[in-house]
Amino acid sequence: MEKIRETTEKLISGERLEKAEFAALIRANSPQLREKLAAAADEKRRTFYGSSVYIRGLIEFTNCCKNNCLYCGIRRSQVCAERYRLSEEDILACCDAGHELGFRTFVLQGGEDPYFTPERIEDLVRAIKTAHPDCAVTLSVGEQPREVYALWKAAGADRYLLRHETADKAHYEKLHPSEMSFENRMRCLHDLKSLGYQVGCGMMIGSPFQTPETLAEDLCFIQSFRPQMVGMGPFIPAAGTPFEKERAGTLEETLLLLSLVRLILPEVLLPATTALGTIDPLGREKGILAGANVVMPNLSPVSVRKKYALYDSKICTGDEAAECLRCLAARMHRIGFEIVTDRGDSKLVN
Ligand code: SAM
Ligand code: FES
Repeated sequence: MEKIRETTEKLISGERLEKAEFAALIRANSPQLREKLAAAADEKRRTFYGSSVYIRGLIEFTNCCKNNCLYCGIRRSQVCAERYRLSEEDILACCDAGHELGFRTFVLQGGEDPYFTPERIEDLVRAIKTAHPDCAVTLSVGEQPREVYALWKAAGADRYLLRHETADKAHYEKLHPSEMSFENRMRCLHDLKSLGYQVGCGMMIGSPFQTPETLAEDLCFIQSFRPQMVGMGPFIPAAGTPFEKERAGTLEETLLLLSLVRLILPEVLLPATTALGTIDPLGREKGILAGANVVMPNLSPVSVRKKYALYDSKICTGDEAAECLRCLAARMHRIGFEIVTDRGDSKLVN
């Protein structure tokens, strides 16, 4: 108990922790510990970002994917997935509507879809930046060669989200088929950073085979890699995948991890994810109170929302973007935060 108290104080005062110390905090995970860490995380976040919550307009532009990640509801072998692709016009229309609503960041996320060649995505990025030069463009389209990341950066892309999924190689290999490699995932993240992107890594909480030690390894990686963003939400099983019968990650563990990451990197941009809102009706509010400062409402056309089914029972698949934003703004207001019209760039430099 005394040791946990000391470790907590060490983390709050900004000292680096060892893997064993992170693992001990993760194992301890009591309501008192979560409360203490959340209060400290809230205070740190307020010194950099006040009570502002940044919004990112998420455009899920294709659910076609050549990969076969074992946890993912749109993996290649998912025969029941109804595949779709948005056209460039559709995507630009989503951005126009989003801009009107106050979004200043657009996140283009999709499977690794060979139809969207590097040149097609390059054109898309240029078109969005030309139409909305006051906005940031975030890409989240998986593992690519360094030259492709460089091409998109030159076209104007500002940020890239690529969750590392787990920093433990053996664990990575249990979540992915043998044609994917831990080394390539890490190579991608380092390339993105050295090319000057604001980079987001992250992991699912409660993924199959995860342990306090693998999570502690994730935290050590985050501590040394210093990403500008960290995307973390609970793992939620998806019907039809090899992990369909596995247990979902818990609210409590996700909240603990959000507070820990905020304390490790006080300036980090940290979303309260849709997955967190899926496992608990007030999940996103609780995520913000634990230290998160970003929400990512969906800007994709309602007609395709249900088809981007990474996991079961995903929320917000029926509402128009304007309605989602109104709902989230009210939710944030009720807990004393406000959604702002701002690019919300990271204060962490590469
Ligand atoms: N293809 C891109 C990539 O691999 O980074 C972006 C799309 S991928 C679906 C985005 C993220 O969704 C993954 O990094 C993973 O962490 C998350 N995800 C996939 N399946 C999930 C599940 N069953 N539960 C929770 N999150 C999941
Ligand atoms: Fe490609 Fe999930 S396996 S997006």
